[in-house]
Formats: sequence, C-alpha cells, structure tokens
Amino acid sequence: MRHILITGASGGIAQAMVPLLKDDFLILLGRDAQKIEKLYASHPKKAIYEIDISKAADLAALVEKIYQDYGKIDILVNNAGYAIYDDFEKFSEEQVRAMFDVNLFALMAFCRLVGKEMKAAKAGHIINIVSMSGKIASAKSSIYSATKFAALGFSNTIRLELAPYNVAVTTVNPGPVDTGFFDLADPDGTYQKSVQAFMISPEKVASKIVQAMGTKKREINLPWLLEATNKFYTLFPNLADFLARKVFNFK
Ligand SMILES: NC(=O)c1ccc[n+]([C@@H]2O[C@H](COP(=O)([O-])OP(=O)(O)OC[C@H]3O[C@@H](n4cnc5c(N)ncnc54)[C@H](OP(=O)(O)O)[C@@H]3O)[C@@H](O)[C@H]2O)c1
Repeated sequence: MRHILITGASGGIAQAMVPLLKDDFLILLGRDAQKIEKLYASHPKKAIYEIDISKAADLAALVEKIYQDYGKIDILVNNAGYAIYDDFEKFSEEQVRAMFDVNLFALMAFCRLVGKEMKAAKAGHIINIVSMSGKIASAKSSIYSATKFAALGFSNTIRLELAPYNVAVTTVNPGPVDTGFFDLADPDGTYQKSVQAFMISPEKVASKIVQAMGTKKREINLPWLLEATNKFYTLFPNLADFLARKVFNFK
C-alpha cells in the first residue's frame, strides 16, 4: 500500500485529492487536526499530525516520528501555501518571511528530510504544488511569486539530483483554482471576478495530480491558456510585460 504525505491537508486542492486516494494510506498534516479529522472521517486509512509547518525547528522531529510510526513515505505532496496580493511596499518584513516560511522553506525542508530517505530507498515521488505565479509575473503578487519562482527553481534542481536514485520530482503549476485560497489572497473578490474565464476546479487539478502519482512526469501546467501565455512570456518578455501592465492587470 502506498503511503502518501500531504501538507496543507485542510485546503481546497487537498480536499479534492483525498477522495481519489481511497486505497492509499494518507499521512495528513495541518494546523488543525480536528478539522482534518472531520473532513476525512470516511477515509479508511489515515494518520493526522497537527503541525504548523512554518516552525522550521519542528519539522525534522515530525518526519522522524512519521518514519518511526509508518516506516516509509512513497509520495510526498508539498501542498501547503498561501498568497496575499498587494503592492510590495505594503508588506512588512514579518509578512514576507512568514510567506517564505510556508511556501518555500517548509517545502524545501520536507524535500530534504523525506528526499534523503527516498534516495536511500531508491524509490519515491515528490510532488510540489507550485503555481503559474512561479512562471509568470503579475502586479501585486511580488512576494507570492518570489516564493513560487524559488520553489520551481529548487524543484527543477532537485529533480536532477534525485533522478539517478529513482526519485521523481513533479511540479504542479495551476492558474487560479476555485478554493478558499482567495479568502486571504483576494478578500474583496475583484481578482476572482476578472479571472473567472480561466478559473479551474480543484477537482480538475486533483485528478491531474493523482494521475501523475508514481510516474516521472516533469510538470503539470494548467489551464492550457495560461501554459500558452507562459510560453509567450518566455519568448517575448517585453511584450508580455506591456500586456501584463496594460491589459491583464487583474489584481
Ligand atoms: N487556489 C489557487 O488559485 C492556487 C493556484 C495556484 C497554486 N495554488 C497552490 O496550491 C496549494 C494549495 O492551495 P489551495 O488552493 O488548496 O488553498 P487553500 O484551500 O487555502 O489551502 C491551503 C492550505 O495551506 C495551508 N496553509 C495556508 N496558510 C498557511 C500558513 N500560514 N501556515 C501554514 N499552513 C498554511 C493550510 O493548511 P492547514 O490549515 O491544514 O495547515 C491550507 O489548508 C498552495 O500551495 C497554493 O499556493 C493555489
């Protein structure tokens, strides 16, 4: 039976993923164990660990405990993450560091701690939920984009380091997904309204992630329109900047 660790287990994408993993043993991490227990009461095989993953000092002991309790992790899904959209000068130093702690440093710590075990076992799959914001810049997402560009660069590098050990690394780079993510990122709903046309369902993202589990897929980019935009952005960065300022300035 596969053992799958998912961070940010209470989130919208996780909620869409869990029902597709009925035959797997799930190791679910989040800040509110009761909430996770309630959400997944019907899942037959699971363990829940209450942890605030922004507390870097707690992560090594947690991973050690999980290996003591269950012996292995076949698939690691680094899913926890959040955004606040605003002009960059409005962020305090604490807010910047807090977002990096969750979106980047925790992801890197799990990759290091679990990746080491996978490397020794010569088997495993790391799936990092990144974002199109890790590929395409847009105004007001400076801090979020910085965390996600870094997460993507990090993932692309460790993929090379872990490949000889039969450990795969997949990044998932969705555009806007219809989850509670926007309660914090876009509390007045303006951005969500402007991107309604390419908003995707968490079920669609979850099904792509679950299909990729156990494969060597490099990355999942969706929807196709934003993937095409990304290719355009890479080929014509000046024109892309112009359009991002004048036409697609949604946040
Ligand atoms: N929704 C989108 O439009 C979108 C688009 C591209 C990428 N993504 C990425 O997809 C992943 C999942 O997002 P989602 O849409 O499912 O959002 P969500 O419903 O808000 O869930 C995110 C989860 O991340 C954890 N988290 C959030 N803030 C945290 C904090 N300050 N400290 C610790 N943990 C925190 C929470 O888990 P616990 O409460 O269980 O701790 C939360 O349930 C994130 O990495 C996000 O960046 C989302």
